[in-house]
Amino acid sequence: MNRRHFLTSSTALASTTALPRLAVAQSGKTYTTALIGAGWWGGNILGEAMAAKRSKIVGICDVDDQALDAMQSKVKQLTSDDPRRYKDFRELVAKEKPEIVIVATPDHWHPLAAIAAMEAGAHVYVEKPISHTIREGRAMVNAARAANRVVQVGTHRRVSAHNIEAIKFLKAGKAGKIHMVRCFVHSGGRGGEPTPNSEVPAGLDWDMWCGPAPLIPYNKALHPKGFRMHLDYANGVIADWGIHWFDQVLWWSEEKSPKSAYSAGGRFVDRTMMNAPDAQTATYQFTDFILEWEHRRFAGNNSERHPLGAYFYGTEGVMHIGWQDGFTFYPVNAKAQTIHMDAQLNLPDRQNIRELWGDFLTAIDTGRRPVCDIEYGHQATVISLLGNLSMKLGRSVKWDGAKEEIPGDAAANKLLARDYRGEWRYPV
Ligand SMILES: NC(=O)c1ccc[n+]([C@@H]2O[C@H](COP(=O)([O-])OP(=O)(O)OC[C@H]3O[C@@H](n4cnc5c(N)ncnc54)[C@H](O)[C@@H]3O)[C@@H](O)[C@H]2O)c1
Repeated sequence: MNRRHFLTSSTALASTTALPRLAVAQSGKTYTTALIGAGWWGGNILGEAMAAKRSKIVGICDVDDQALDAMQSKVKQLTSDDPRRYKDFRELVAKEKPEIVIVATPDHWHPLAAIAAMEAGAHVYVEKPISHTIREGRAMVNAARAANRVVQVGTHRRVSAHNIEAIKFLKAGKAGKIHMVRCFVHSGGRGGEPTPNSEVPAGLDWDMWCGPAPLIPYNKALHPKGFRMHLDYANGVIADWGIHWFDQVLWWSEEKSPKSAYSAGGRFVDRTMMNAPDAQTATYQFTDFILEWEHRRFAGNNSERHPLGAYFYGTEGVMHIGWQDGFTFYPVNAKAQTIHMDAQLNLPDRQNIRELWGDFLTAIDTGRRPVCDIEYGHQATVISLLGNLSMKLGRSVKWDGAKEEIPGDAAANKLLARDYRGEWRYPV
């Protein structure tokens, strides 16, 4: 790339483009707010809720006392609120009847916790991927509509400046006609080493952590944060990261779902107790374009320009939408200038939760749908889950997006849901 063009174009774009920031931190009604899942990301969301100064924090729920201790003292430091502690979200929603509930548990808990909150009358900010199976996701959309609640999903790229501008650019046809999109996340490494199962730490309710999913021995690799790579509690990188990029593909194309999916994957270098693939590809057929997914947790991606993101291949050039590296458009015409826009992200962890929380509050205030409405979150999650479903079957599947089923394929349709453990009832 010609660096001069890159920088010049960057400046030019910045000067001609009013960088959008959605309205944040409006004044208005204060909402009683509770958090379910007081780990890393739950802390980031609650931090923005407190900063917006329109929440009274009434309850915090986690199955781990350590997480509860840390979050309770953070709230007390930053506000005059004194939230009550819960280990069971059903008790929290019944006793506190919060107006807003944040759900930031591991993925397998999102559906039951979010639906319980909606049914108790709360508006919900739920993390991505919204569900562990496709049927759970549909149940969440149904619950949101039945309860007439605002349900925002944490896909904050829809409110991130460079993503908004890049999608506008593509929609305006400036990349020409796009018939292929490639989404990817490559990280380096040589695979982790196994850690032994151990006693459940004091203060952690491990049975409740596993909840409706299988109860397996405690292993410190799973909690906190590690569940992402275990298929009983999450869906690996294609769901953890993939949903962010798939959401942008749906946003750009205004499509709702692919017509078919095929995925291959495997565990090649990782020696831990996890079971999600450390390398995976997936191909999805849409009406007018092909969508590719790729992740690899070894070898990194130093041979290509970007470690992660989405390439949109147009007849006039290639758009890369990334994360910390903003967007870059590489024109087909070698004499034309590369166009770049830097990312605008908030600390900690370089995200745009503040803007998404602002939109969530406006949606509640006005009764409109939020920018990352649960239906969009469901559609993007479905793409990830269809990939894993095909990988598990070892063959491609057709997808009827209107009926949300795999036509004439009983074995595949069985994987749209799963059995729940013990007292937990599958949502419909
Ligand atoms: N939108 C984003 O960019 C983004 C970024 C990071 C994480 N996330 C999502 O946030 C969620 C949480 O991820 P994390 O990294 O914070 O995980 P984490 O392990 O740090 O936190 C999850 C917390 O939930 C608790 N928990 C488990 N079962 C519970 C239950 N039944 N009730 C209440 N609490 C329970 C755990 O004890 C833990 O403290 C995941 O779904 C993840 O995908 C989203």
